[in-house]
Amino acid sequence: MIKGFIFDLDGVITDTAALHYVAWKKMADEMGWAFDHDVNDKLRGISRTDSIKVILEHNNTTLEEHKLEELAAKKNDIYVASLETMTSEDYLPGAKALLTHLRTEGFAVALGSASKNAEKVLKQLNANPYFDVIGDGHSVSNSKPAPDIFLFGAEKMKLQPEECIVFEDAESGIDAAKAGGFYSVGIGPEERVGHADLRFDTMEQATLFEVKAYFKELF
Ligand code: G6P
Ligand code: MG
Repeated sequence: MIKGFIFDLDGVITDTAALHYVAWKKMADEMGWAFDHDVNDKLRGISRTDSIKVILEHNNTTLEEHKLEELAAKKNDIYVASLETMTSEDYLPGAKALLTHLRTEGFAVALGSASKNAEKVLKQLNANPYFDVIGDGHSVSNSKPAPDIFLFGAEKMKLQPEECIVFEDAESGIDAAKAGGFYSVGIGPEERVGHADLRFDTMEQATLFEVKAYFKELF
């Protein structure tokens, strides 16, 4: 029986991909590296350090560990400064309605994000009241596609994985949900999250009514 929901943050609750893009692009330009929206899309769900490694690989280059950390910190400063513009108007369409509905129906709700800036984003959105448990980039050491962040959320909610549905927009996030034995809802195109149990193009389509209709024997 489904008793809880675990939400990824970036790309599910709010669309930070554009802000991440601007910050990575600025760093890549300074380094003389190629970086475009296709590469940015590959960074969905993966940690900051893993993201730099993807960008390096795309440019057929390598960096010493200390330089890599320095660049990651620089990119993060740009990204964090850009979060100041985010307000409680910046939920993805449908996200706030779904979170509200889950509260009304009494489900347990956790955040399961790879971001170390999740607290800041939740504060900008004024979203803390929707979550019983916050799992972020500081909560576990193995990032997605490892299931650890979702297992952390389930454990804190005192639920088993098979009692939870994970919402994710990243390929690595759906991989993580499946690896942990969770039910999954993918938000985005077939080629990215087609391996989820259920997929919607947008959060606006992902209503509790639709989710219950699909997983009906589990409610
Ligand atoms: C999310 C985003 C990724 C980002 C990661 C780490 O999963 O989708 O693009 O790299 O969080 O975020 P952070 O805010 O810690 O750099
Ligand atoms: Mg995401």
